[in-house]
Amino acid sequence: MSVNKEIKRITTETVRNMKFTGEKISMLTAYDFTIASLVDAAGTEVILVGDSAANVMAGHETTLPITLDQMIYHAQCVVRGAKRALVVVDLPFGTYQSDPQKALESSVRIMKESGAHAIKLEGGKEIEESIRRIVNAGIPVMGHLGLTPQSIYQFGSYKVRAKEDAEAEKLINDAKLLEELGCFSLVMEKIPADLAAKVTASIHIPTIGIGAGSGCDGQVLVVHDMLGLNNEFKPKFVRKYLNLEDQIHEAIGQYVADVKSADFPNANEQY
Ligand code: KIV
Repeated sequence: MSVNKEIKRITTETVRNMKFTGEKISMLTAYDFTIASLVDAAGTEVILVGDSAANVMAGHETTLPITLDQMIYHAQCVVRGAKRALVVVDLPFGTYQSDPQKALESSVRIMKESGAHAIKLEGGKEIEESIRRIVNAGIPVMGHLGLTPQSIYQFGSYKVRAKEDAEAEKLINDAKLLEELGCFSLVMEKIPADLAAKVTASIHIPTIGIGAGSGCDGQVLVVHDMLGLNNEFKPKFVRKYLNLEDQIHEAIGQYVADVKSADFPNANEQY
């Protein structure tokens, strides 16, 4: 008898149902095959190919420069590594805000060329028509409200958003609109925890927080941040599970020393 080794894929429906069963959703970013394989094998339900790739992979100051072709390349690498997780890909800046048809075409390219399962975009009312067009084409959409890094030049800083009543009210209305438009979930970034909990209780799609407190239905972090790959980046909302920057520094320093002293390779490490 053959053992069924098939892995059951997490779907948007799985994620939606988790809101009702109360099981928290874990999401992490990944941008390449190796990290995606590790993130997937460790049990993360959702892998986000975030446009934060512009920062952590390419060294840009903001997420704005990354292109659709570059996002598709990262998504292809991640999809090859993700055997179980739902793979969601960010629509990069400039590929969906100006025109709903362009938004649909950008989303179709991501889905067709990468094999990913859903897209994510930033904003509410302003991009209503784009979201409608993408959802109507059968493409699952994850929303993103609060601190939306593609608007950083409009915000002027990475400070906590929606602390004032007017912005908080707009965020609540946008969250309800995203649900109405058919988004299957919603990321809320860097907003007060009580506001995030209020939004979570007022909509029927799962919320996934980053710097938005424990009242969300799930949590997301940038994988480089939680692995401690950059000691200089230490916002309050990041929990560092490893200190890889120091460990990698030490390991590579040791390698350099071993090469220089001719300790590496030794007799067992050559043919
Ligand atoms: O691009 C990204 O990594 C994101 C997360 C911070 C949610 O959008």
